[in-house]
Amino acid sequence: MSSSLFQLAYLLSAVLFIVGLQKLSSPETARGGNAIASLGMLIAIVATLLGEHLVSFEWIVIGAILGSAIGLIMAQSVPMTAMPQMVAVFNGFGGGASALVAIADFLELAKRASGLEVAHGVSIVAGVLIGGVTLSGSFVAFGKLQGLVTEKPVTYPLQKTSNFILLIAMLAAGTWLSLSAPAGGVDVFYFLIGASLLLGVLVVIPIGGADMPVVIALLNSYSGLAASAAGFVLENMSLIISGALVGASGLILTGIMCRGMNRSLANVLFGAFGGGGGPQAASGGGPGGERTAREINAESAAMMLAYARQVVVVPGYGLAVAQAQHKLRELGDLLGRKGVTVKYAIHPVAGRMPGHMNVLLAEANVPYDQLYEIEDVNPEMADTDVALVVGANDVVNPAARDDPTSPIAGMPIVEVDRARQCIVLKRSLNPGFAGVDNPLFYLPNNSMLFGDAADSLGALVREVKEL
Ligand code: TAP
Repeated sequence: MSSSLFQLAYLLSAVLFIVGLQKLSSPETARGGNAIASLGMLIAIVATLLGEHLVSFEWIVIGAILGSAIGLIMAQSVPMTAMPQMVAVFNGFGGGASALVAIADFLELAKRASGLEVAHGVSIVAGVLIGGVTLSGSFVAFGKLQGLVTEKPVTYPLQKTSNFILLIAMLAAGTWLSLSAPAGGVDVFYFLIGASLLLGVLVVIPIGGADMPVVIALLNSYSGLAASAAGFVLENMSLIISGALVGASGLILTGIMCRGMNRSLANVLFGAFGGGGGPQAASGGGPGGERTAREINAESAAMMLAYARQVVVVPGYGLAVAQAQHKLRELGDLLGRKGVTVKYAIHPVAGRMPGHMNVLLAEANVPYDQLYEIEDVNPEMADTDVALVVGANDVVNPAARDDPTSPIAGMPIVEVDRARQCIVLKRSLNPGFAGVDNPLFYLPNNSMLFGDAADSLGALVREVKEL
């Protein structure tokens, strides 16, 4: 393949990535966008295979077969509820792969005892640094989402200072390697690898609870930046561009998540926020002791819903756990046929991954025009007859608005407590991901319909049909 044809193929793939990404911004065009970006990737891969001076096809074939087999098994065996963890792990592997490219390149140069050009050295250092942080940080995020590592922030004295000193030492080592590394810089290079992995762990463990969405989006962005650095190491334009696109879109997503939490990025990264007081007792416990939550049965709840003018549904993580999105849509359709206006309020951090609720509801073909952002639906809450909370908790917790001492203070919420009536579908009074007690459950206009969301929605559908 001639060099200009090769560059043209990369340019075409970059254009397809950008068009695909642009189409991802709307649910109607997202599928097409995915297909276009995939075509871009196919062109980039074919061009690379034909155009680069590949060392050996055997290793590529072995890697492709092994990777595809592992990917296939994971895609089929990982439950939908564990998708966020899987995405975290894949992010980590992306960072790890980029770091390995940079490491292999450096060690090869060291073996040949050739010095480093500054630009090349900076690319290698950036690849190792960002890739290493992404790899270990993503695995800590995986552990937190999987419940293997505590969801609460882990803090200790002089934490920020020691992290800062480590970062400075890494930057000093990286600068020295980039500017002047002779072949003998291998020890310093090994220090850089170890320190990057350590830093990834140290920066993610103090972040917990409701702040995890920001970390996940940020690690996603890092994996793109690491790929971009690997692109510079390999002098591969397509990798540079696609990595930069992932890095930039990850940063935009990080911004959206920060806005969803009403927090600055600096506050999330250095604030050790979001831990809450740890899960509190199930039975009406929590601060205040004596409070009782009113229970409702499916029959009464169905009556309230069927005779309402407007119902606002707030889906949350429990809907994904119960996989009850199809039943929820059936209920929404039934209510719609009875003349009830049904709106779905989507909180940006509901669930466990960005866009989690949009994906769930799209899977059940809930019409996009029934989905509302919180700033559009909150002003209508006082005019809403029933707010139906399905497996959501933190995103409807009024303490975030009313209690400045709450660990989730300042996080915007769907203000279901302002609706005339609120019905919460969940299995107990246990707190959500942030581990914070929810005063909503004890309000006079709130009722709890206890049980698995799929069972409760099934019962509501049956009851509404009989009315
Ligand atoms: P949560 O606050 O985590 O609450 C979910 C609730 O669902 C739980 O309280 C649980 O109560 C209930 N539940 C679980 N399984 C259920 C089932 N089978 N049937 C019915 N209910 C069930 O969820 P949320 O309101 O969606 O808020 C999301 C939280 O996760 C936020 O704190 C957010 O910061 C955090 N987070 C988000 C992300 C992203 S990117 N979205 C990533 C990481 C963390 P019971 O046990 O009583 O049933």
